[in-house]
Amino acid sequence: MTDKTQKTALVTGAARGIGLATAHLFLDRGWRVAMVDIDGAELGRAASGLTDVLAITADVSDPEQVAGIRQKVSELDSSLAALVNNAGVADFGPIAETTFDRWRRVMATNLDGPFLMTQAFTEALAKARGAVVNITSISGVRASTLRVAYGTSKAALAHLTLQQAVELGELGVRVNAVAPGPVDTKLAMAVHTADIRAAYHDAIPLNRYGQEAEIANAIVFLCSAEASYVTGQILAADGGFSAAGVGLPSLRLSD
Ligand SMILES: NC(=O)c1ccc[n+]([C@@H]2O[C@H](COP(=O)([O-])OP(=O)(O)OC[C@H]3O[C@@H](n4cnc5c(N)ncnc54)[C@H](O)[C@@H]3O)[C@@H](O)[C@H]2O)c1
Repeated sequence: MTDKTQKTALVTGAARGIGLATAHLFLDRGWRVAMVDIDGAELGRAASGLTDVLAITADVSDPEQVAGIRQKVSELDSSLAALVNNAGVADFGPIAETTFDRWRRVMATNLDGPFLMTQAFTEALAKARGAVVNITSISGVRASTLRVAYGTSKAALAHLTLQQAVELGELGVRVNAVAPGPVDTKLAMAVHTADIRAAYHDAIPLNRYGQEAEIANAIVFLCSAEASYVTGQILAADGGFSAAGVGLPSLRLSD
């Protein structure tokens, strides 16, 4: 890592799924990438063979480990121009069965993580007039059963995005969010049964799950110069899900 003109993006949860697709797209566009993940083995596999990456095994919900990430990234000789708070956990269950430990685990990664990471890198991002993208979810836009912790964490992250955009805008830092619909990743596979998949197809105007690369495209756009006057926005990349309040299958033209 020697070219001082090359910009660096930090992507959390970069070992797989949307985070890994985002890291690949940044690399394709000529950025360096700091890949952060709690799963060191998976991160090692994901980063092996890639050039221009720094792999950091850490938990974004732990303030001391976040300080460690900041230290490692500060040793790079290029400016941090993008922070993608993508690391997230999904834990679906009824309210009565959501123990405080389960609730805290979801809040810790999905909400505390983006708070801590953005705070830790604000100074660096301000120097580069950089951008933050938080990954929320359609679960933060619409309520459902079984998502008391996950949905609430993502709704809170959407509001955190607005808070950060308003305050950090004064420093020249843009902050936006991408709210994916269902995407074919390990996270979705772990919690989406065949019934859930079929119901999603019914509820989504584009009638399919999204692909990791489609979410990465939205994320990298929001970090790019093309989005230089865009801040405080929650961009849904959801196949039209959130637009379709009464998009009932029985009202479809094709039915
Ligand atoms: N897949 C979907 O359908 C979908 C839909 C909407 C939103 N999202 C959101 O997109 C993001 C990425 O989802 P994905 O489907 O790629 O998930 P994934 O489970 O495939 O990948 C998430 C990564 O985050 C890492 N991670 C988890 N906790 C961490 C922590 N505390 N510190 C550092 N790393 C941690 C995991 O090890 C994993 O590599 C998440 O925030 C998720 O909530 C996903």
